[in-house]
Amino acid sequence: MDRNLALELVRVTEAAALACGRWVGKGDKNSADHAATEAMRRTLDSIDINGTVVIGEGEMDEAPMLYIGEKVGNDGSPEVDIAVDPLEGTNTCAKGMTGAITTIALAPRGGFLHAPDMYMDKIAVGPQAYGVIDITAPPEENLKRVAEAKNCYVQDLTVVILDRPRHEKIIKEVRKAGARIHLISDGDVAPAIAATVAESGVDMMLGIGGAPEGVLAAAALKCMGGGMQGRLVFLNDEEKDRARAMGIDDFDRIYSAEEMAGGDVFFAATGVTNGELLRGVRYFSGGAETHSIVMRSKSRTVRFIKAEHQFDFKPVY
Ligand code: FBP
Repeated sequence: MDRNLALELVRVTEAAALACGRWVGKGDKNSADHAATEAMRRTLDSIDINGTVVIGEGEMDEAPMLYIGEKVGNDGSPEVDIAVDPLEGTNTCAKGMTGAITTIALAPRGGFLHAPDMYMDKIAVGPQAYGVIDITAPPEENLKRVAEAKNCYVQDLTVVILDRPRHEKIIKEVRKAGARIHLISDGDVAPAIAATVAESGVDMMLGIGGAPEGVLAAAALKCMGGGMQGRLVFLNDEEKDRARAMGIDDFDRIYSAEEMAGGDVFFAATGVTNGELLRGVRYFSGGAETHSIVMRSKSRTVRFIKAEHQFDFKPVY
């Protein structure tokens, strides 16, 4: 696969961030999501790939663009699968809160787990703690192992958890174990990635969030050597039927990052609002500044890219 694809993908997430950046704090999550999706869809078609969306905005009849099965790219080679979340944290963006990003991942055909739009239980840590986590163990045990791997005290660790009633028990357990918690209102992809970045201050992401978001986080963690496990959470039989239709029949399976994102994987994300991982879009007279991360699993190169965009020369924005 051409390594330049990484930079092409950043252009896609930058375009989406610049588009939905205009909707930050406006209380309209649908318009923000639509702006990001449209910009991402348009920019993707300038890339020389023969892509198929496998993680997207929903089924064909649910989404007008970037739906599962949609063909994207300039129809060149290579044949790739695409996972997108044009705006991860729609509410966060609409409320102008921290942590919204635009994100995309690319793998050779068949590389991504075709995760249905349902929940996934997840645990994510950085490279130092790769191999020590066990999603079936209680939080206290995982925290002890991560502290040991990082040569620090459990009290020094910060765990990011979505602030949801379903997490009441694990929040209690993490507090009892003595670790610090950062509760977030939305957006669990960025904190999973942040767990692999030493200066982010995040050591672990824990809890139940979206399964498609789990695959995107897995793509990033694979590129960064982080550890992740995910297990689908089925709320009813209808969800099991949907999973079966997508080729999943072992409902208890625990997936590693490598199993969710196989082969030569690329990942890119751009900040929409400020977060632990990336800064949000900042506008200035005549343009805007974006902050992105882009990486490839084959080389494990991770680039943080600060870009200045001049609107007079990019009238589309
Ligand atoms: P959206 O961007 O689609 O709004 O999703 C944000 C998100 O917070 C994800 O990051 C997370 O995985 C999932 O929603 C959690 O779902 P729920 O809000 O149902 O708890």
